[in-house]
Amino acid sequence: MVPGASRTGHRRRRPRVHPVRTHHRIRTQPQAGGDPLSLLDIRNLEVTYASGAAAVRGVDLSLEAGQKLGIAGESGCGKSTLALALLRLLPAGTRITGEVLLDGEDVLTMKWGRLRAVRWAGASIVFQGAMHSLNAVHRIGDQIAEPMLIHRTATPTAAKKRVGELLEQVGLPAARAQAYPHELSGGQRQRVMIAMALACDPSLIVADEPTTALDVMIQAQILRLIEQLVSDKGLGLVMISHDLAVLADTCDRLAVMYAGRVVEEGPASQVYEDAEHPYGKALSGAFPRIGDPASRRAPRGLAGDPPDPSALPGGCTFHPRCPVALDICATEDQELRSASPGRRAACVHVGASAAVVEQTR
Ligand SMILES: Nc1ncnc2c1ncn2[C@@H]1O[C@H](COP(=O)(O)OP(=O)(O)OP(=O)(O)O)[C@@H](O)[C@H]1O
Ligand code: SF4
Ligand SMILES: [Mg+2]
Repeated sequence: MVPGASRTGHRRRRPRVHPVRTHHRIRTQPQAGGDPLSLLDIRNLEVTYASGAAAVRGVDLSLEAGQKLGIAGESGCGKSTLALALLRLLPAGTRITGEVLLDGEDVLTMKWGRLRAVRWAGASIVFQGAMHSLNAVHRIGDQIAEPMLIHRTATPTAAKKRVGELLEQVGLPAARAQAYPHELSGGQRQRVMIAMALACDPSLIVADEPTTALDVMIQAQILRLIEQLVSDKGLGLVMISHDLAVLADTCDRLAVMYAGRVVEEGPASQVYEDAEHPYGKALSGAFPRIGDPASRRAPRGLAGDPPDPSALPGGCTFHPRCPVALDICATEDQELRSASPGRRAACVHVGASAAVVEQTR
């Protein structure tokens, strides 16, 4: 309801944090057309699990330094799979194709040694449920220092100093480095996870449901903290959530996923306030608006469940649930296309084909 073989063979489904380092910055090299390279460029990404589940299908997205991209969608639409694919963290037996260009370098074709190096400072991922993933028997200071020591980005003395700085950056006293995870609240543990993600100075942070398990006050604090860090350091942020309202509040752009596809993408406030795609409309209608009592009394839901990614319906995969489906929707798939300036949507009612459909109705 609304509210490939991994080329690496990496075994852990939900690692705590995977900071990623790109040692050789090549962003200054222009593309053939002369445009500067994006910080992150995802091209025609497809992920199919060994079970046959087509969890990500033909995703194209890009992100510039300093930009915040939100990815929304119901449970099971492929958000976490997309995040894992960005750093080749999918289980062995998963088929992954397409390109994931990080600073212009394709993560999917990197040699293993290079990938390991890249994973510790170019980008870092705070995973869904990460706040329960701290090692219970190690002090948090040692856990934050670990990536710096393993990848020799700091000496032990420098790492200790840096741990204190990182804790202060995320609003915790440096002395908390001595604490064990059980001595911290949920919000404090999540701050520690963010400190770990920042440890090797990444240029991109992927945050998968970073605040879902937190109460609203702490959620707001953590979101402001992430926003502040991203703007202070000029990082790129990919933030994943099922909560469109949170993403609209935090991000510059918003992509809505359904059944492994991006079905709508555009400026966050526009997608949230006035979605082009019927699924985007349903998703945003499910969240009460502040200052709109009518929506609080009757948030609109969407009947039915998303399809099984191992047995997707033909045509537009949303057609069995779509309130405005046409006959053609059961047989013809719709590509993501320009809906209005700066916006894309994958629906027969959107863009140039909309007029044709209207004429032939
Ligand atoms: N290791 C796996 N093996 C097989 N199928 C998987 C695996 N992990 C996820 N899937 C399937 O892939 C689809 C997408 O899962 P994913 O975890 O990416 O969804 P999600 O959008 O992150 O959902 P949620 O909001 O619940 O976190 C689901 O149908 C899920 O069952
Ligand atoms: S293409 Fe058809 S089924 Fe799909 S969202 Fe648009 S109207 Fe609905
Ligand atoms: Mg998920």
